[in-house]
Amino acid sequence: MNGMTDLAFRPYEPRDQRRCVAMFDANTPEFFSPNERVDYLAYLDGGAAGYRVCEEKGRVVGAFGLSQAAAQTRELNWILIDPGTQGQGIGSRMLERVVEDCRGSDTTILRIAASHRSAPFFERFGATVVRTTENGWGPGMHRVDMRLDIGPQAEV
Ligand SMILES: CC(C)(COP(=O)(O)OP(=O)(O)OC[C@H]1O[C@@H](n2cnc3c(N)ncnc32)[C@H](O)[C@@H]1OP(=O)(O)O)[C@@H](O)C(=O)NCCC(=O)NCCS
Repeated sequence: MNGMTDLAFRPYEPRDQRRCVAMFDANTPEFFSPNERVDYLAYLDGGAAGYRVCEEKGRVVGAFGLSQAAAQTRELNWILIDPGTQGQGIGSRMLERVVEDCRGSDTTILRIAASHRSAPFFERFGATVVRTTENGWGPGMHRVDMRLDIGPQAEV
């Protein structure tokens, strides 16, 4: 991880859809099941409230959604990074950002709908497995529901 990349976060706009879908496709089938594409499109078409994109030198390299799920509970959805820029610390920066946002509100629990492929990443930040659903996302793609308790201090 290096903290040197200059990253900017901003709200998702309809003009980002093509790029986001391209990043989804580039992460399929390694991280996403092909059948999830229709759900992602519906999410974006539906306005994607709380979705944010991450730009590096003006280019969108990732996105993530943060929404209110219940009282004091937020949910992280559709976090994805361009495979060409994975492993450079961008996902970590995003997650730090998400945790900061949660701490700045009354959030105590962050729910993460992950897969068996991405769960190890979230575990590094202290997220724990709540439930595993075999083939929950599609054939061979297991759903791993996780939670990250938001404490008052940095836990990374
Ligand atoms: C999961 C994801 C967001 C991680 O983002 P990233 O920018 O690649 O992560 P970072 O570079 O910050 O990685 C931080 C550390 O976690 C590790 N890591 C990253 N992804 C991992 C994974 N899937 N499994 C295990 N470890 C992982 C990295 O190797 C790195 O380790 P290091 O610090 O020892 O070098 C990214 O790989 C991604 O977009 N995946 C496809 C979409 C996806 O699965 N989304 C989640 C489900 S909705």
